[in-house]
Amino acid sequence: MKAIEIRNGIYWVGSIDWSMRTFHGYATSRGSSYNAYLIIDDKIALIDTVKEPFKEELLERVSSVVDPAKIDYIISSHVEADHSGAIPFMAAHCPHAKIITSQPQGLKGLTAYYGDLPYQPVKAGDSISLGSRTLQFVPIPMLHWPDSMVTYCPEEKILFSNDAFGQHLASVNRFDDENDLPLIMYEAKKYYANILMLYGAQAQKAMKALGSLDIDMILTGHGISWRSNIKDIFAAYQKWSTFDVDDHAVVVFDSMWHSTEKMAVAVTEGFRQGGIPAVMHDIKATPLSDIVTDILTSKYLACGSPTINNQMMPTIASFLCYLKGLSPKNHRAFAFGSYGWGGQSAKLVEDGLKDAGCEICHELIRIQNIPSKAQLKALTEEVAKIK
Ligand code: FEO
Repeated sequence: MKAIEIRNGIYWVGSIDWSMRTFHGYATSRGSSYNAYLIIDDKIALIDTVKEPFKEELLERVSSVVDPAKIDYIISSHVEADHSGAIPFMAAHCPHAKIITSQPQGLKGLTAYYGDLPYQPVKAGDSISLGSRTLQFVPIPMLHWPDSMVTYCPEEKILFSNDAFGQHLASVNRFDDENDLPLIMYEAKKYYANILMLYGAQAQKAMKALGSLDIDMILTGHGISWRSNIKDIFAAYQKWSTFDVDDHAVVVFDSMWHSTEKMAVAVTEGFRQGGIPAVMHDIKATPLSDIVTDILTSKYLACGSPTINNQMMPTIASFLCYLKGLSPKNHRAFAFGSYGWGGQSAKLVEDGLKDAGCEICHELIRIQNIPSKAQLKALTEEVAKIK
């Protein structure tokens, strides 16, 4: 395992996790990477480590460039274990290294996780000199942990952004112009929707702080880094963090005997006939993390469930719980569902949509037993009128 030189004296020394398929519930169908960077100057800095099982790979890549014992600084951008998991291991191999972390939250977090190590806490505006290069520290609290910070090197115009602007995407190619751009943008959107959506206000603050920096390259903590499409990823973060939605619709449903499914198809067709592009997700087929990615930028959301044991389907309850946690904004929504006798589900779904912050744009729609062709046609026509 060798380091990959990114620029003279700056190396990627991370690891690629080709096999990961879930990241605490976030479906990662394309794996991920834990990106760590080594800067060789008069002083030597390692920016972030990797998930603990990949620690030997990190050490091997570092060792391909320099004796790890010569490292002066290990910079912890964020306490979460996918970046900090190998800190104790690397600290043991870097006996002279100070571990730079944000004050107070990074220090508190790392101490709680790993005990007493040679920490050097930093705060906004602090910097260290490596010789010909400076590293400046910019806290970005709650993007997405209290301790999160990014590191900027003005001489190189490089931003080491950790979780911000990253994606769960495994690739041997490190940069945006070496990969399929629409795929990277989709995975960046998915990352934002599932990890950062809740923190739109904090993302806006971070965008303001980072917007004043002269940036040639963003070296991310996950997936692909940016050097040719920096304006595009900044514009995307601007859109996502301001909850800017398009006139699109997402239809989410579960079904027992295909009746609510028939309603979902009719609803989707109704949006289409009304001039609103729509996508339909059977919750049994699409992971929640992909569904909320579509919801992030879609103005309309329709959610359907049949009634089971006087409740909505547990799958839909789980979806509404997940959605509420992400605190989406600017969505207009309605509930629908088929039922046999009780018929409580649609109201429960509507309550869940309201609870998740959606504005109800149509009264709930219920059909008893198997929907007839006439009922489905009427449903389509009704949805086509929604604005
Ligand atoms: Fe990639 Fe929040 O850790």
